[in-house]
Amino acid sequence: MRENLLPHEDELLRAARDAASRAYAPYSRFRVGAAIETDAGRFSGCNVENASYGLCMCAERTAVFQAVAAGATHVLRCAVSCIDASDDAGIQGRMPCGACRQVLAEFCGADAEVIVDGAGVWQLNELLPISFHL
Ligand code: THU
Repeated sequence: MRENLLPHEDELLRAARDAASRAYAPYSRFRVGAAIETDAGRFSGCNVENASYGLCMCAERTAVFQAVAAGATHVLRCAVSCIDASDDAGIQGRMPCGACRQVLAEFCGADAEVIVDGAGVWQLNELLPISFHL
């Protein structure tokens, strides 16, 4: 894990923040944005909630599914921003959930970067050391 962001990482994070501003989160009031760099370019996503709560979709998976639908096969890095996280939420209030880590692992190399707003930069295999693969 490292705390200082490189310029290209900061730029991807700004795209994630921008995506978060378009979140549909009337139930949690917790807007999240993700931006990913892939072999087919950059994609972004936001969380999209539903009155049937179990149908809510996270920002990271929205971004990955958009990318795959557009022809991407490989994710190089992912930036995530929880723009409504409170100052006292700490790192754990900003990290990608386990389901999103597993979905990222399907399309990422182990050394893919996960850039988390207000927290730092991790390799995906630090966040999900032994992911499930078939
Ligand atoms: N959420 C994400 O978009 N990504 C995550 O990794 C964690 C949680 C969303 C889901 C829900 O809409 C809101 O944050 C509160 O859990």
